[in-house]
Amino acid sequence: MPRFLSTPLIQHGPGSLAELGGIIQSLGGGRVGLITDPGLVKAGICERVVQAAGDLADDIVWFDGAEPEPSYELVGRCVAFLRDEHCQVVIGLGGGSALDTAKMSAVMVGNEGDVSDYFGAGRVPRPGLSSIAIPTTAGTGSEVSPAAVFVDPRDGTKKGVRSDYVQPKAAILDPELTLGLPQALTASTGIDALTHAIECYTARAATLIGDMTAERAIALIGEHLPVAYADGANLVARDGMLMGSLIAGMALAIANVGAVHALAQALGGSHHVHHGMANSLLLPYVMEFNRMACRGKYARVAALLGEPVAGLSENAAAERAVAAVRQLTIDLQLPQHLRELDIPEDALDDVAERTIATQGRIATNNPRAMSVEDARAILRAAY
Ligand SMILES: [Fe+2]
Repeated sequence: MPRFLSTPLIQHGPGSLAELGGIIQSLGGGRVGLITDPGLVKAGICERVVQAAGDLADDIVWFDGAEPEPSYELVGRCVAFLRDEHCQVVIGLGGGSALDTAKMSAVMVGNEGDVSDYFGAGRVPRPGLSSIAIPTTAGTGSEVSPAAVFVDPRDGTKKGVRSDYVQPKAAILDPELTLGLPQALTASTGIDALTHAIECYTARAATLIGDMTAERAIALIGEHLPVAYADGANLVARDGMLMGSLIAGMALAIANVGAVHALAQALGGSHHVHHGMANSLLLPYVMEFNRMACRGKYARVAALLGEPVAGLSENAAAERAVAAVRQLTIDLQLPQHLRELDIPEDALDDVAERTIATQGRIATNNPRAMSVEDARAILRAAY
């Protein structure tokens, strides 16, 4: 049945990081474990966050071992850290990988075994520690998501845990933390957010609330992503992108994604392609594949992206949506072909097979049914 669950407290806007101390206290206070990656420590952002907690800064200890495309084994190390330090609250600081690692580690403190016991939906038996998500990229929407994704090193595939207990208790979206995000990451993470919005909007599991959030997210990202890319210091554009990513994340938590993410996760697990880059590369190709299944909604996507669709047929307007998304990825200087990512051509069949074999939950949420042959054809077109 359709439902809407989101992070209960979302503090946003320039300077919102100053609310951190109050949020920690509202969650009961105590010792706080901050999970982040070494780059954010080096950039001084971790220290900024700790100091923003004011009087509570001394209660914060940090673990800076978060990695991109994390394996679930990393969570085991984080849990050991949180237990050794007797933490009662967890902060995730960083991109989607750091946030997913922090959210999942917080939950695992209250549960036995390891993450691999809980892959799938609704399988975590107990809540863990409360978590606060502080994104430093505008893309994943992990701050409002009840899901966390990890690579299973046993078979090189990406797998998700989806549970209400994984949902953070609070999120802080301060665009000042994203001002230093490099251009390439601004581009790939921004298109990840756009992919969430478009895939959720056209998902089989789409709902009214999901559509409302997806539509607003598409418009916000279409407006602000080119500016944030062109001028990373533009606080209005950075704020617009954090909001777009957040609202797309709400849609994601409701309706879930489709074939773009299914293919991207199969690629990411085996060939370690950055999630946002894989999505941005595949999005126009999958939209072309899906177009016949969702012309009306794609026509609306074109309008939301500012395309002049008045007077066009629904099909022509839908074509404009595909072209607009493709042009946006070109403008953002993102790779257009899989061969640019050093993926051997003879690996495509395996990726297609693993997409259908391991990503069924999201592949079957795609508006057009996708067979192994279809997946292969999309990958070949994108090669
Ligand atoms: Fe994504």
